[in-house]
This record gives sequence, C-alpha cells and structure tokens, in this order.
Amino acid sequence: MKIRRQTLLYTTLLTAVLSIGVEAHEPVIPAATAQAARHYDYQLDVFRPVQSRNGMVASEHHLASQVGLEILQKGGNAVDAAVAMGFALAVTLPNAGNLGGGGFMLLHDAKTGNNHALDFRETAPAAAHRELYLDENNNIIEGESIYSHRSIGVPGSVAGFEHALNNWGSMSLKEVIRPAINLAKKGFPVSQTLAQMLLVQQKQLEKWPATREIFFNGERPLQAGELLIQKDLARSLKLIAKQGAKAFYEGRIARAIVSEMQRHGGLISMQDLADYRAIERLPVTGDYRGFKIVSMPPPSSGGIHLLQMLNILEHFPLHEQGATSAESVRLIAEAAKLAYADRSEFLGDPDFVNIPQRGLISKEYAALLASSIKPGAVRDVANIRPGNPADHESDQTTHFSVIDRQGNMVGVTYTLNLNFGSGIVAEGTGILLNNEMDDFSAKPGVANVYGLIGGEANAIQGGKRPLSSMMPTMVLRDNKPWLVTGSPGGARIITTVLQTLINAMDFGMNPAENAATPRMHHQWQPDVLRIEKGFSPDTLNILEQLGYDIELKASMGRTQTIQIEHDGLHGYSDPRNPDGATLGY
Ligand code: GLY
Repeated sequence: MKIRRQTLLYTTLLTAVLSIGVEAHEPVIPAATAQAARHYDYQLDVFRPVQSRNGMVASEHHLASQVGLEILQKGGNAVDAAVAMGFALAVTLPNAGNLGGGGFMLLHDAKTGNNHALDFRETAPAAAHRELYLDENNNIIEGESIYSHRSIGVPGSVAGFEHALNNWGSMSLKEVIRPAINLAKKGFPVSQTLAQMLLVQQKQLEKWPATREIFFNGERPLQAGELLIQKDLARSLKLIAKQGAKAFYEGRIARAIVSEMQRHGGLISMQDLADYRAIERLPVTGDYRGFKIVSMPPPSSGGIHLLQMLNILEHFPLHEQGATSAESVRLIAEAAKLAYADRSEFLGDPDFVNIPQRGLISKEYAALLASSIKPGAVRDVANIRPGNPADHESDQTTHFSVIDRQGNMVGVTYTLNLNFGSGIVAEGTGILLNNEMDDFSAKPGVANVYGLIGGEANAIQGGKRPLSSMMPTMVLRDNKPWLVTGSPGGARIITTVLQTLINAMDFGMNPAENAATPRMHHQWQPDVLRIEKGFSPDTLNILEQLGYDIELKASMGRTQTIQIEHDGLHGYSDPRNPDGATLGY
C-alpha cells in the first residue's frame, strides 16, 4: 500500500519549485522544464504520482480515502468504494462532504463499456418561486439565499448514494455506511485546515445551538488536534443503514428536517422530501484531438462548457505554446470568456428549460467562436454577448475519484454549496443543511455568491434544480478508459478541470505534475484574469501588456485525479489541500 499525505511544507515547496525567479539556492525546476525533459526523454521524476496495480482512491480527506481503499481491498467495486467515501466524507469533511446537500456521480462501467451520469442535485421546494429573495421593491434581500432556512434546497446525496449502490454496487448499504458510523461515533482529530475553516465561518455557525453543540468547545470553534465526535450524525447514519434512504426522505430524519423548517420559516415539506428522486442522465460526450471526453450534463454547466472550450482550443496548437505560457493563458482565458457568457444565458435545469446543447458543443459553433480570437488580442468583455448556438473566494465543494481492479471508474463531486452550507444543522440529526438555492439566479442578470450571472433559464421554480458547475469528468484514450478527475471551486471548477485535461492531453503531465501546476481562471464577468502564485513574472508582464486585469489568488480548485497507465494506476490528490490522500493497493 502506498500512502501520500500532503503537508503545507510540501505545498510551499511545490509553489517554490514552480516559481521562476526563486532564490538561487532553491532547487529550481519549473513545470516547463519538467515537460521539456519528458520530451527529450530524460528521467526527471520530480513530481511522482502515487502508483498501484489493483485499485486506487483519491479524496480530500485521508480517513475517507482509507475507507474507500479498505472497501476495494475487501472486494468491493468502485461504486461501493465511492459510496462508502461519500458517507465517510459527510463525517470527516463537514464543510463540503454531506448528507444534507447534493451532487453528481459519473461512472464508467468496465464490463459494458457504458458511461452513466447520476444527478442527485438538490431541488427547490415546491413553495419556492422566482421572487423568493426579493423585497417589495424588487431588490435582493441580503444574505437570504445563503444563510437562512429559505436558502436550503431538498437534499439529494442520500438518494443518490442509495441509487448508485442499488444499480451498480455489489455491497449492502449497511456495509458501506459502517465505517462512517464508526468515524462519527469515535471521532477524529480536527486538522489545521478544518480548524481554520471553522474559525472563518464562526459567525454563521455560532448562531445555531445544534451546530454549536457539534463544532464548538464552549464559546469557540474546535481547534486543531481536538476530537470531533458526532453522536447525532452517527445515529442518523445508523438509521439510513437500517432503513435505507426512506429514513431520510420519509422517516425520522425527514420529520426532523421539516420541523426545523417550520420553526424557522423554511420551505421544505414532507411532500418535497418524499418526492425527491436521483435522476440518471446521458453524459455529455465529445472528442478532443483524438481523446474522448465524458462529463456531466445539465443541471451541471460543466460538461457542456468544458467541451465548448476544448472545441475552441482545438483550433490552436497549445502544445507548441507550452503550459502556463502567456499565449496558453490568453487562449484559455479568451475561450472561457465566450463559454461563460453563454452559460449566463442558456443553462438551467433541462427538465424545465430547453438548452441548445447540441449547438453549444458543436464543432461548427466552436469554429465560429475560435475565429473571433485574433492573434495577440484580448477581447473587451463588453463586446462579448451570449452567442447564438441554438468571490466570494472559497472552494467549498469536494470531489473524489476511484478506479477498481476491473477498470470501473467513478468520479463524484458533491457539496453543501458554501463551507458548511447554510451552517444550519437540523436539530437532533447532526446533519448540516445546504444553501444550494443561491445557485439559482435570485434575480436574472444579478451575480450570485460566485460572481456568476444567471439568466431566465436558471430562475427559481418549485421542483427545479439550480444550475451547477460541478463536473466529475473522464477521458478515454484510444477508446480505453484513461483518466478520472474533478474539483471543487464554484465557478472555477470548469476552468480547473479544463486545465487538468489540457495538462494531461496536450502537455503529457502525470497527475502529480498536473496538480502542482499553477492555474488561471476567467469567467467573462467580472472581467478579471485570476492567476495562482507560480506563474513567472515575465508571463504576468506579457499578460498585463496584452490588457488583462490580473488578480493574484492563493489557490484555485483541488483536483483528485487517477489515470490508468501501461504500468498500473497513477493518482494524486491536489497539494492545495494537505488533508487529502491518494491511496492504492
Ligand atoms: N454550489 C456550487 C456548484 O454547484 O457549482
């Protein structure tokens, strides 16, 4: 068994290693050098992925990865491991892992060769309506869509996990939940990362006695090293293990959620919970320079815009420009502006609106958009409108990936939306509830918490699912399953996954090099090019001279990538979160 756990020191070292112009005594091996070395066939394994033969898991918490690994070792398949990790992360990663939120699963079934997309995104309660967050003057009521009981959508995670296990798993719900129950009952030490997040969110969390009881020691949030024990959550998990998702949607947990709503003016009813269904959808697929891309369809915007941007970028020889070069950054930023402009207009819940999906991911539309990107030019976003196809700064969501010994690949991205969601725990359940309703456009044309502008297509309606950026994604090489990845990051999920794919497909990076490479982001509005530390000052100068307004960001995205290579599995947990771990056997 190989274990790699990132440390802050390691992250710092990687950043230093990737920075051109660091102190002379540092071992300076910039990413571009590592790639050039690969090209010239040197052995320069600076960034080594974790490697194994039989199976691999990657997640943002080492204890959840350990749970997934043990399920694989016991003979469980990738879906069993993924579901077990999903329940475990609800305990060990309370800021994003969840029972009270929702998300998406993507699966490649090695036996049939089929790909499946499972949508367990939250739905708006039936009583929700488009003016939900507007006052009598039609202005947005500050904070209402993120920190109130009315910000909570009907959760989908428990239904999603049960659906996945029943349809593609081989183990019982009892078996895959058991490790999560133990973790909740016995507790585990709070990490520096979690302690820091609790501190940042203290004001929102301390408002609610049921939340305080779990995450506070007296008047202050738990600190690093203190045990986080979640007795109520263990009881809820036990109920689900015994009675299935029914316990959550019709039984004792449902009653506790609804009584929480009734005490505080929330909208979720017993009927909303009973009506909730996870939905199997057709994955979005396309080709890029001979690779086959498989990603999440709406209500995720991720898959469509990933393909749209790849289709545009296919018109440019990225491999000649080099990763993290000013020209590569410009091309990706210009493609992103066009895609995010379309996102604002056309994307929403496909069960409620018609999305011109075929047009958005067509090669012809991409050719038209690509022709608008001129050599050396930066387009003014004021002149970019959604086409005619037919920060808040935190990374709250979480992604995990699994590949088993049969070659089944699973990627899951799920979330409470912001860190700890609404911050509200349904009393007596230990379950934190999401604030996913903010992913609707509260008022068409007005930005949400991620600065994303939504249109009519994403207006609030009872039973509808809010638009998401989450996108577990897979790549097939020579028609064989090759790579599975995904990331948190709100609006930046799409550009993070895009760059991860480009780094692997165009620049031949292994998952470790890939995750360590600095990232950039543009989302049309606001007209800002966000850049992580690690790009050379020279590159930044060129980009500034081209006309970009550059904003330096501490970190963007946290990928969990696993690849099937000729000598086995290669994987890596993004060093931006030191709590993550990739484990294999
Ligand atoms: N809550 C963030 C997303 O779904 O994109």
